[in-house]
Amino acid sequence: MKVCVIGAGYVGLVTGACLAGMGNKVICVDNNKEKIDLLKKGKIPIYEPGLKELVKKTMQKKFLYFTTDIKDGVTNSEIIFIAVNTPPRKNGEADLCYVEAVSREVAQQMKSYKVIVSKSTVPVETGKKIAQTVKIYNKQKVSFDIASNPEFLREGSAIGDFMHPDRIVIGVNSKKAETIMKKLYKPLGAPIIVTDIESAEIIKHAANSFLAMKISYINAVANICERVGADVTQVARGMGLDRRIGAEFLSAGVGFGGSCFPKDLSAFIRIAEKNGYNFELLKVVKKINQEQKNLLLKKLTRAIWNLKDKTIGILGLAFKSNTDDLRNAPAISIIEMLQKEGARIKVYDPQAMEKAKKILKNVIFCKDLYLTAQDSDALVILTEWNEFKKLDFKKIKKKLKTPVIIDGRNMYNPALMRKQGFTYEGIGTK
Ligand code: NAD
Ligand code: UGA
Repeated sequence: MKVCVIGAGYVGLVTGACLAGMGNKVICVDNNKEKIDLLKKGKIPIYEPGLKELVKKTMQKKFLYFTTDIKDGVTNSEIIFIAVNTPPRKNGEADLCYVEAVSREVAQQMKSYKVIVSKSTVPVETGKKIAQTVKIYNKQKVSFDIASNPEFLREGSAIGDFMHPDRIVIGVNSKKAETIMKKLYKPLGAPIIVTDIESAEIIKHAANSFLAMKISYINAVANICERVGADVTQVARGMGLDRRIGAEFLSAGVGFGGSCFPKDLSAFIRIAEKNGYNFELLKVVKKINQEQKNLLLKKLTRAIWNLKDKTIGILGLAFKSNTDDLRNAPAISIIEMLQKEGARIKVYDPQAMEKAKKILKNVIFCKDLYLTAQDSDALVILTEWNEFKKLDFKKIKKKLKTPVIIDGRNMYNPALMRKQGFTYEGIGTK
């Protein structure tokens, strides 16, 4: 099928490459010329496992190409995905100016029937606004349909998530659009849920908020575990084996970050507010998440007392492993909090260092994790990279000024760590 994806970011690029990998002719459009120039050369602006190879392969087969020219994309495709960013405004609601701009530009270029699909995460009723905008700017009165097709991929496992989804949600109000979208996704063999557009839009915000709620819930349970000497990892296992609860998203830690959970939670709270409902539950989810970052500081203070003039080694900057994404990464706010207390910071991350250099100031960037430990008063783990699983603790202990490890991701066995002579604290473990 002929597909245009507008916005070649994390979602647009993965969507474009995967659809091309499935044998569709895909044109990826972005108004960031620098990004498109890189992509044309086969260079990927983000770190996402497997993406580089897939882009290269599909480009060579001429199933995927990149352009800044939206006219090219729209003219040569029947399905138009909008995959631009929907960042939060100051008041928490989603900023839809990029979605509006793209809807307008698509409408101005349409010469034949199109299905215009929102893949961006948008507040409920955005589909109606897109339809209204397209109607206004579509001077030649070309027929079109609107669809909502929220994306559930995770960074770090994006290609696998896209190609093997638990379900595909398609919100439509026309049979023609339903048939086209079902045909596009049929090769994936995943369950397809067809709904009205508003329900599809809500599914995305409700799903992300639910997952965020699960994380805050287990973090709250972790706080009780710490107070009574229980172990949250055992509690999570005992809960998660109940199929009604499920084992995933029950890892206690420094809290969730990323470009989506914090933003989508705030957006859903605002959507509720605008419609006369006070979604208090989600407000508490946000509050608990913030408290987890403060908790890390408390643990550090407990272990090494004053932070002023102490050197803290940070292992992990990305908001989770297998990505270089630093958007709303807990590490960034924790480092800023530590600097406010007067601590010196050394950092190491396997993938996010280049991006971090543009954000963090007065920080020592270390070439490897052992240099981060060198002469530090404590080591703090903030991302669960595989590389951190197999540390040489003897070496680490020798390098640290004092053998203190605060583990914000519960990566190690507390008893073993203490046996090796570390002052060790995880989250909700004993
Ligand atoms: P991103 O910032 O990585 O990419 C957005 C891209 O859109 C950028 O490259 C930008 O240059 C481009 N763009 C903006 N305005 C444009 C315009 N007028 N014309 C052409 N290109 C334009 O964002 P992202 O992380 O890919 O997220 C996109 C959407 O998908 C958001 O709504 C997000 O909530 C949602 N989403 C993201 C993820 C994720 O894991 N990142 C997962 C599911 C859903
Ligand atoms: C999340 C959702 O999982 C995707 O389904 C969704 O498509 C995406 O948001 C989106 O809308 O953008 P992502 O943000 O890439 O994906 O990463 P997750 O794996 O969900 O992790 C989010 C955050 O929660 C990370 O900071 C992670 O460390 C944290 N987390 C996750 C925990 O603290 N505990 C857990 O048990 C799981």
